[in-house]
Amino acid sequence: MMYALVAFYQESILSNITTPRLTLTPVTLADAPFIQANFADDSILRWMRHPVPYPVYPEDGAITFLEKVVFPQREAGTHFPFIIRRAEDATPMGSVGVKLDTDHTWEMGFWLAGQFRGKGYMPEAVIATMRWLFKNTTAEVLEISNAVSNDASAAVQQKTRCDFHGVFPANPPYHCGDTENDVWSMSRQSFIARHGL
Ligand SMILES: CC(C)(COP(=O)(O)OP(=O)(O)OC[C@H]1O[C@@H](n2cnc3c(N)ncnc32)[C@H](O)[C@@H]1OP(=O)(O)O)[C@@H](O)C(=O)NCCC(=O)NCCS
Repeated sequence: MMYALVAFYQESILSNITTPRLTLTPVTLADAPFIQANFADDSILRWMRHPVPYPVYPEDGAITFLEKVVFPQREAGTHFPFIIRRAEDATPMGSVGVKLDTDHTWEMGFWLAGQFRGKGYMPEAVIATMRWLFKNTTAEVLEISNAVSNDASAAVQQKTRCDFHGVFPANPPYHCGDTENDVWSMSRQSFIARHGL
């Protein structure tokens, strides 16, 4: 009974997210080849850390991640990744996801394939995903961290008007070698004031 209720709840909140330029679709197994072909690139992996494999991303890395990590966690209501698509033709461009950290605090991660960077797609996707999170869950705070030398990611946090908390030790370190990260957050209250629900 409990399982059926949870499944019904997940299904009801797992809808597409739309913005003027983007459609965000809940990740499925059919997205594994896209993730494998694009995430397994040093321009992305260098900004990740354990448990993301590095420097060699295994050939079954995307499928394993979806089947062993994402789907069970999504079933439990604690992890919601989306594929970011161009609205006009549904071309997959990257991914953004939110994951329960502790209590009512969630964390966000994101990446875009190289040819789609620098067009402001990620700030658009991040704000839409934050809105989805605050509308559909009891999240009170969303945290985002980036390696200190990841200026492109820090720019996204600034453009989406996150609050900056400071530089903290990163344990484990990032694959690029950075041992510190910038920590940012957006509270439910700040999101409503800055972007509207
Ligand atoms: C971080 C990332 C998602 C930014 O997405 P985006 O849609 O390119 O974001 P924007 O277009 O707003 O650009 C953000 C910053 O990227 C940099 N940038 C601009 N054009 C770029 C390009 N063609 N290629 C790479 N970076 C570029 C700039 O610093 C820009 O900030 P600015 O507009 O204030 O100068 C993307 O660079 C990426 O996927 N990086 C690799 C993965 C990663 O770092 N993920 C985050 C881990 S915390």
